[in-house]
Amino acid sequence: MSRKKIIAGNWKMNKTVPEALELVKALKPLVAGVTDVEIVITPSFTALYPVGIEIAGSNIELASQGIFWKASGAYTSQISAAQLLDVGVKYVIIGHSEPRGRFGVAEEGANDEFYKYFGESDHTVNLKTLFALKSGLLPIVCVGETLAERKAGETDTIVRDQIVKALNKVEPSSSSQIVFAYEPVWAIGTGEVCDAVEADRVCGVIRDQIGIQLGSAAAKAIRIQYGGSMKPDNAAELLAKENIDGGLIGGASLKAQDFAAIVNAAS
Ligand code: 13P
Repeated sequence: MSRKKIIAGNWKMNKTVPEALELVKALKPLVAGVTDVEIVITPSFTALYPVGIEIAGSNIELASQGIFWKASGAYTSQISAAQLLDVGVKYVIIGHSEPRGRFGVAEEGANDEFYKYFGESDHTVNLKTLFALKSGLLPIVCVGETLAERKAGETDTIVRDQIVKALNKVEPSSSSQIVFAYEPVWAIGTGEVCDAVEADRVCGVIRDQIGIQLGSAAAKAIRIQYGGSMKPDNAAELLAKENIDGGLIGGASLKAQDFAAIVNAAS
């Protein structure tokens, strides 16, 4: 089965509204002819609405960097599925290592750091995944090991465990709506990309685990992105691999030329 590649830019906590509009206006013509790749951008909450208007009718889709698992109410600082759908959001990034607090700087005490930043845990990843699916938003669920875990030979165990917990109570019928992103924590924002053969191998482990939990049809259908220092000069090699169906791009998505080059590498 052929899976349509998906290239998503995660803008993280960058860009004011005018800057976000400038970036997307520059990006649009650079990717205008691309029909065989799904193109997604993830601005900050403040820019979702104006950027959504700017990309309406184009081949670029909108994602959110967050979601809460309640419909509405007294949840100061959070954003709801209805609010995201209202401004045209289609995808939502869940379980990124930054809100999970699994930063490279904390390698020595990865467990101590686990809840340090925003308290994202495997449990909240699961709650958000279930709620996004129920609401009609498509989750991009991030998994990945820290450097200490990799050095200890725990990569596959960690990634399988994150998937088991993320997919708790997820119905096989809705599972093809999920995208996974393999983001080794040590490769994020470091310039140190995971070797393409190894990235493909771990994405294969992820696919195997999806199959164990949701069946082989889901495992074949679900798209798995690689994320972590993906750039124009390494994207083609990564994206050519059997188990890598796209990229989740941080730094290089902040420059229209670089992001467009990665989109074109996937095309
Ligand atoms: P970089 O591409 O900057 O390494 O970030 C990857 C990432 O975290 C995407 O979500």
